[in-house]
Amino acid sequence: MNEYLENLHWRYATKKFNPELEVSDEHLETLLEAIRLSASSYGLQPYEVIVIKDAEMREKLKPAAFDQPQITDSSCLLVFAYRTDIDQNYLDEFIENNSQTRNQPKEDFQGLKDMIQNSVLTFSEHEKEVWASRQVYIAIGNLLSAAADLKVDTCPMEGFNPEEFDNILDLKSKNLKSVALTTIGYRSDEDQLQNAKKVRKSKESLFTRI
Ligand SMILES: Cc1cc2nc3c(=O)[nH]c(=O)nc-3n(C[C@H](O)[C@H](O)[C@H](O)COP(=O)(O)O)c2cc1C
Repeated sequence: MNEYLENLHWRYATKKFNPELEVSDEHLETLLEAIRLSASSYGLQPYEVIVIKDAEMREKLKPAAFDQPQITDSSCLLVFAYRTDIDQNYLDEFIENNSQTRNQPKEDFQGLKDMIQNSVLTFSEHEKEVWASRQVYIAIGNLLSAAADLKVDTCPMEGFNPEEFDNILDLKSKNLKSVALTTIGYRSDEDQLQNAKKVRKSKESLFTRI
């Protein structure tokens, strides 16, 4: 089996982290860079990630995540929150960033701007929420694979109350709404799940080959 697939077999949604083990700053920065480099619709990256190492804050958040132990036993908690202000101003800043990064005049990006204006900016609030949330999950997928490559454990999590998280982290004032979490750290020897066989559909039932 190639190394990439071996890593994917090694990874599992860790339920019990070893609270003594901390992910190094170097590894954490690599994982954050993997998130930053993730693909997104038009490249708009309509989300932010709150990186929480602070033990006190994680204790505060834990009850709002059904007391799941990963919140406090992991080394770091990432809260993925989508932007609720995907508007003309957001688009203008995006085009400015394209222009500066690629050292090209803004006019070069007029076609891209028009496409976004005629699609994403016409979405209803609900459609924007669904669209923005989808982008988050691409980043989480990337994060899980990158972490497996570094032999860092993760648990993606939707088991939490987003409204309570938003209140505790004061996300509304920043035009953000939490949508998913990922905890990062190292598995405890006691987590029996690490030995469990992966349960997946067969290739025959998952893929239609034409
Ligand atoms: C979007 C999403 C939300 C999840 N939420 C939780 C969660 O709140 N708590 C938890 O322990 N696991 C959670 N999981 C982990 C899944 O249960 C796990 O990925 C799945 O059972 C497959 O097992 P594996 O990842 O260990 O291979 C979540 C996974 C995903 C992708």
